[in-house]
Parts: sequence; structure tokens; C-alpha cells
Amino acid sequence: MGFQDILEEIHSKLRDAPHKGVVASYIPELGKVSIKNLGICLLTLDQEEYGVGEFQTPFSIQSISKVLSLTLALNLIGTEVWKRVDVEPSGDPFNFLSLLELERGIPRNPLINAGAIVISDILYSNLKNPKEDFLNFVRELANDDTIDYNLDVANSEKKTGFRNVAAANLLKSFNNIQNNVDDVLDFYFHQCSLTMSCSQLNKTFFMFANSGKSIAGKTYLNPSQVKRMNALMITCGFYDEAGEFAFEVGLPGKSGVGGGIVAVHPGKYSIATWAPGLNVKGNSLLGMQALEMFTTKTGLSIF
Ligand code: DON
Repeated sequence: MGFQDILEEIHSKLRDAPHKGVVASYIPELGKVSIKNLGICLLTLDQEEYGVGEFQTPFSIQSISKVLSLTLALNLIGTEVWKRVDVEPSGDPFNFLSLLELERGIPRNPLINAGAIVISDILYSNLKNPKEDFLNFVRELANDDTIDYNLDVANSEKKTGFRNVAAANLLKSFNNIQNNVDDVLDFYFHQCSLTMSCSQLNKTFFMFANSGKSIAGKTYLNPSQVKRMNALMITCGFYDEAGEFAFEVGLPGKSGVGGGIVAVHPGKYSIATWAPGLNVKGNSLLGMQALEMFTTKTGLSIF
């Protein structure tokens, strides 16, 4: 069975699933998206693409952007990043605050909200025009100038992101935010509002499957940095469900509350899914099922 047939079989099994999860509404703008969307897209290392359903429809990538901001921070200041944020799985929800107090303002990892806010602060200090420069970096990675922020989503989160405001202020009280809290949060909300399709996500994440070299052939990370990024994705990319994702799917990956997931098999492929209904842990319910079916059917997990 070829990849296209496998994706079609998974899509037809899941399309009419009775339980699709719940669309995130704590960011009101995200709540407007139809739960019926289901896209799956595969990009192999030889740049063959296979897709089904809404794999070309752009959606809000939300926390998936945390991998991209960390990549840019590593590009800019290298291992200095690890003085400000740890690399341990949190075992807690993505917006959990109490660990931050216990661990004196050093977030557990860069893929939970508090960690990504520290990374935003690092970028804010090191980029001339943070929003513009970050967007250009992502466009370059994907080799696609049409990728953009969704300002309605960014503004929607700005009005309701109370837990992020709390986290940023707590970080500031421990001197782990150097810039103005409102400026850093505005930048963080813009990163989360990046809009991409499954197809664009695969192109952006291609380099994590391709030893740090982007789809356009430019090297952004060295092999040791790619190893670390993939290690962080597999241990921290799904918050308190990282174990379950590794157990079911067996790939490094990252989810977002917009319902997207992107995962990579180093040396083989990148795969992205979009299904906006989330499970109780905030990860796409059908997306996780689709990826489990894919790696089980093909035998192509890293384990
Ligand atoms: O900061 C937030 O809460 C959102 N902008 C991103 C959260 C998110 O995507 C967590 N993912 N599963």
C-alpha cells in the first residue's frame, strides 16, 4: 500500500468519528473554527508530498511556534539559552504556574508557555524588529513568503491571555524577563498567531528530519542542535501527554491548541495533521489517532 492510500484510509476512518474532542475557546477567535476539519499531510525527505482532507487550509499553529522561536534563539545565542530555561519534561499542563514559583523562575522547558515567554524575551533582546524578523525567519525556513500572523487571533489572545500575563510577571519578579512584560507578551501572542497549513508546516519542519538543512537547502542547525531539538520535542512537545504521544506514535513532534500537530522521523519524513477538536490535555484528539495509525500501519516510528 502506498503512502497516499494509507492516508486516505486513515482519513476515511476518522472523518466520521463520533468523538472529535472540543475546539479551544479560551482564545475566543479559535472557537470559530469548524470541528469538522481534518487534514493530514506527509512530506518525505526526497520532497514527495502526500495529502488528504484539509491539508492545504491554513490554521492557527499556536504552540507549534515554540519550536521555531527556540530554533531562532539557538541560532542567535547558542547554549546561553540554557542558562534561562531548563530541558526537563514538566508533566504538567502547558500553562501551569506553580512549578515556576518552586523553581525560582526557571521554566522546566522551552515548549511550555513560561519557557516560550522567556525565549520571546531572548529574541526581543537580540532582534532589531522582533515581529518582522521572526516572521521572515519562518518564511525562510519554509521557503514560503505567504506565511503570516493572524492579527485577529493575536488580539483575541491579548484580551484573554491572563495566565500568560501572570507567568510573565512571575518570570519578571525572578529577573528572567529583561524587557517590558507587555512588549514580550505582544511578541509571544504574535508568534502563536502564525497561520499555516499542514503542507506548510511540513516544509517548515523539514530541517528537523533533514539534519538541520531546510527545504531550500540552507543549514540552520548543526547535527548536535537538531538532536537536542528532537529530544525536546519527544520529551516536552505534548506537555503532560508527552509520554502518551511517544507511546502511541513514537516520533518527536509538537502540538498547538489550534488543533495542529507536526512530527518528524529524522532521515525519513515530516508529517502534519490538523483536527481542531482537542482532548482534555489540549492536544488534537483525531490528530493523535491519525498519527498513531500512520506509524503503526507503516512501521515508520523511531522506535
Ligand atoms: O499561550 C497560549 O495559551 C496559546 N497561545 C498557546 C497554547 C498552546 O498551543 C498549547 N498547546 N497545546
